[in-house]
Amino acid sequence: MTRIIHISGNSGSGKSVLALNLGIALSQKGREVILVDGNIYSADIANYSDISPEVFLNEFLDGEKDIEETIVFHPSGMKMILSMAEKAYTPEKHEKLNKALLSLTGKTEFVLVDSFSHSPALFSVIDNADEMIFVTNDDFPSILKSKEFIKKIESKGTNIVGVVLNKKRKNSNKKHIEAILEKRVLVEIPYDKNLIDTVNMKQPISLVYPKSETSKAITELAKIIDIWER
Ligand SMILES: Nc1ncnc2c1ncn2[C@@H]1O[C@H](COP(=O)(O)OP(=O)(O)O)[C@@H](O)[C@H]1O
Ligand SMILES: [Mg+2]
Repeated sequence: MTRIIHISGNSGSGKSVLALNLGIALSQKGREVILVDGNIYSADIANYSDISPEVFLNEFLDGEKDIEETIVFHPSGMKMILSMAEKAYTPEKHEKLNKALLSLTGKTEFVLVDSFSHSPALFSVIDNADEMIFVTNDDFPSILKSKEFIKKIESKGTNIVGVVLNKKRKNSNKKHIEAILEKRVLVEIPYDKNLIDTVNMKQPISLVYPKSETSKAITELAKIIDIWER
C-alpha cells in the first residue's frame, strides 16, 4: 500500500529540511520512499542534497518525460523527484503534478511531498493526500499564520494529522500551542545550529549527527508515521 503524505506549512518554517530528513529516517527503517519536491516555485531539496541531478520534475511538467523517468537517487539510496524553481505561475502544472503524485501509487510505500505553502497552489495538489503534516515555528506571528492556514486546509477536507513544532525555543509551551492550533504536536525540533551546518554541507542531519536532539525527533516522527499504518 502506498501512502501519500504532504508536508506543508508557512514559507521558511522548515518543510524542505524536514521532508528530506524524514524521508531518510523512513528509509533507514527499511521503508521505500519517493521524496517529491512539489514546491515548484520555491524548490530547494536539490540544493539540500549532494547530487548533480540530470533530470527534474519540470521536464515531466513540460511534457518531455514520464514521471518515473524523473526519479533520481539521493546518495543515501532514497528515491527523489527534484524540482527547479518554475519562473511563471502555471495552474495547469499543479493539476499535472496532482495526477503524477496519484500515479506513483503502487510504486512505493511512501510518497513524501514537500508541498506548497500558498493555499491556491496547495489546494490544487492535495486531493491525493492521505495525510498532511503541518510544520510551524513557535513565535507568535507564525502560530497565528499557521492557525489560519490550518483552518483553510481543513475546510477543504484534508486530514492534518498533526503539527511539527520546528526551530523550537527552550521557553515555548507545547500545550499552549496545541490549544491555539487545536492540533496535536507530533514532535518538537529545536532551533539547531548543527542543522544549519548540515544544510550548508548538503548532508542530512540524521546521517551526520544521528544522536542529536533534532535527529532523534525526526526518527520519532518516522516511527509515529510508521505506526499509523498498522
Ligand atoms: N530546526 C531548525 N533549526 C535551525 N534552522 C532551521 C531548522 N529547520 C530549518 N532551518 C533553516 O531554516 C531555513 C528554511 O528551511 P526550509 O526547510 O528551506 O523551509 P521551507 O521549506 O519551509 O521554506 C533553512 O535555512 C534551514 O536551514
Ligand atoms: Mg521549501
